[in-house]
Amino acid sequence: MCGIFAYLNYNVKRERSYILQVLFNGLRRLEYRGYDSAGIAIDSPSRPQCSSDSDLTSSPPLVFRQEGNIESLVKSVYQEVGETELNLEECFSTHAGIAHTRWATHGEPAQRNSHPQTSGPANEFMVVHNGVITNYEVLKATLLRHGFIFESETDTEVIPKLAKFVYDKATEAAGGQVVTFSQVVLEVMRHLEGAYALIFKSVHYPNELIACKRGSPLLLGVKELTENKDNGSAFEENKFLSKDGKPKELFLSSDANAVVEHTKKVLVIEDGEVVHLKDGGVSILKYENDMGELGASLSRTSSVRRALSVLEMEVEQINKGHYEHYMQKEIHEQPESLTTTMRGRLIRRGSSKSKSVLLGGLKDHLKTIRRSRRIVFIGCGTSYNAALAARPILEELSGVPVTMEIASDLLDREGPIYREDTAVFVSQSGETADTLLALQYALDNGALCVGITNTVGSAIARNTHCGVHINAGAEIGVASTKAYTSQIVVMAMLALAIGGDTISNQARREAIVDGLYDLPNKVREVLELDQEMKDLANLLIAEQSLLVFGRGYNYATALEGALKVKEVALMHSEGILAGEMKHGPLALVDENLPIVVIATHDACFSKQQSVIQQLHARRGRLIVMCSKGDAASVCPGESCRAIEVPQVVDCLQPVINVVPLQLLAYHLTVLRGFNVDQPRNLAKSVTTQ
Ligand code: F6R
Repeated sequence: MCGIFAYLNYNVKRERSYILQVLFNGLRRLEYRGYDSAGIAIDSPSRPQCSSDSDLTSSPPLVFRQEGNIESLVKSVYQEVGETELNLEECFSTHAGIAHTRWATHGEPAQRNSHPQTSGPANEFMVVHNGVITNYEVLKATLLRHGFIFESETDTEVIPKLAKFVYDKATEAAGGQVVTFSQVVLEVMRHLEGAYALIFKSVHYPNELIACKRGSPLLLGVKELTENKDNGSAFEENKFLSKDGKPKELFLSSDANAVVEHTKKVLVIEDGEVVHLKDGGVSILKYENDMGELGASLSRTSSVRRALSVLEMEVEQINKGHYEHYMQKEIHEQPESLTTTMRGRLIRRGSSKSKSVLLGGLKDHLKTIRRSRRIVFIGCGTSYNAALAARPILEELSGVPVTMEIASDLLDREGPIYREDTAVFVSQSGETADTLLALQYALDNGALCVGITNTVGSAIARNTHCGVHINAGAEIGVASTKAYTSQIVVMAMLALAIGGDTISNQARREAIVDGLYDLPNKVREVLELDQEMKDLANLLIAEQSLLVFGRGYNYATALEGALKVKEVALMHSEGILAGEMKHGPLALVDENLPIVVIATHDACFSKQQSVIQQLHARRGRLIVMCSKGDAASVCPGESCRAIEVPQVVDCLQPVINVVPLQLLAYHLTVLRGFNVDQPRNLAKSVTTQ
């Protein structure tokens, strides 16, 4: 849902070509967040060359915007370089550039709707934005009355225009004395409603940047370019905040992917904070005021002291390695991601070596969770499906009723959430707007809120009472794959942690823990079906539709497999609860429509066998997913195709069964010639409602 990025070099000479590269690479790392247009703002020519020591002064910035992906923007900027005086070797000892990659919400993908949005032709204020301003129509009407001319259909355009309005008014009120950049932004913020992460650049405040946020994610990366004699003290509170004159590079980004190649020292910006980069220093102000008359007064603020944290991710995680696509890489790295998810969490205890799990983030809350009136899982898309896959084992081991909520539906219905409930929020990004709003709703209703997320420092991680990180590593492909399997594993561990360790369920618990230990190997085994799934994709390449039937533990697999096929291969696909077959879906069955039936061994196996027979009797075109060695007995007739998968303990079988469907979706997409990592109209992190 849009990626924003900024780069500021302070007291260190950087050529324009370098600055452009940093900005473009930042955008490439964020491209999965949106890819229908992109833009940057940098300073204009007429600056001394790298060899010169003379002071740099400001000149009007340049804004480039382009419909299409980042590479279209790169091309257009370099074309411009050829046609203008823009000199790539031109040098800046301090320069502030901002960048944006867009997923359209208000206004079609077009150059005029791309960011940076500006205050007017002179580019006095330029803004990149991730989020949605819900009261933009009111603000626009006010600004139109004050003579502003709008060029785009975006909600964002009101922000730079409001900044100019505030700046002009405040400067006039102060008798021409210049107000600070942060004062202007704080005043702008007072009037914005909705969700946003914003970065401001202004001709009035050369070499400064302001970032602020509410709802949408944003972080600051700090790279000090001189040796730190205090050996590590740079991580101490506020050390980096001072204007110490030391050369440094500062990065603002929607997520850590775009920063980790430069620095691991980051600060996660909190809601309501205004971060001001100026003269090599960073100051953080907290917005603290109610709405007032537009431009009437500048907001009261308090300054904030915060410590930098250290990113645990490695640059390799965000590269494709030898794979062609992120989705392919992420499917194939599931044995490793699952191992990381379980690392340090599976334990063998006591002389009997009884097996259990340890989830540090929950240990103080387990009693409360066990005593809850119900556990309610809340999420969207793949994360919802993962929770659905884990629901039966949670119910079985905990004895607590478990209900499911799609976040947006819970909000639409204002469904009941009680203080006796445990609400579990499942989200890869930890930033999904619907899930976040549902979290706020559950907090307001007094429920214990547990987060299950892949993103350390994300809004869900920060705002829940407790939680578990799935530690699957950065997931960059828009279609979620490895996060899904890691989420299921975390929730299976959650079931073990909540469920009592009684004699009667000891064998069951041990079978699950053993199954967890063995899972990475079994996933390795199922990944060997890659070529088989490619062959199947070749057979299905021209199909209009694909049905996936599952039940029990694998109803979620049917939903998730179908979701993968529809979102990346752009083929209609539907996950169907097999128990519902006779209540409607059976009407679709004929000899043409391909149907995958999941029939691996579990308590529903015999029911699925009968589903297969009924579909066969209606000449259904069957593809049966079954346990290894079962093909001959489960598959009726010559035309039926089998996908044989390794058998694991029933509650972990969804982790195995989804893999061939992920591979099928991947190969179908490549063969159909679609963009695997950036499916049409989608973005990874859905930070707007
Ligand atoms: C599908 C997919 C989406 C997300 C959904 C929730 O492959 O990725 O359905 O699962 O948008 O996102 P998170 O998990 O980040 O809350």
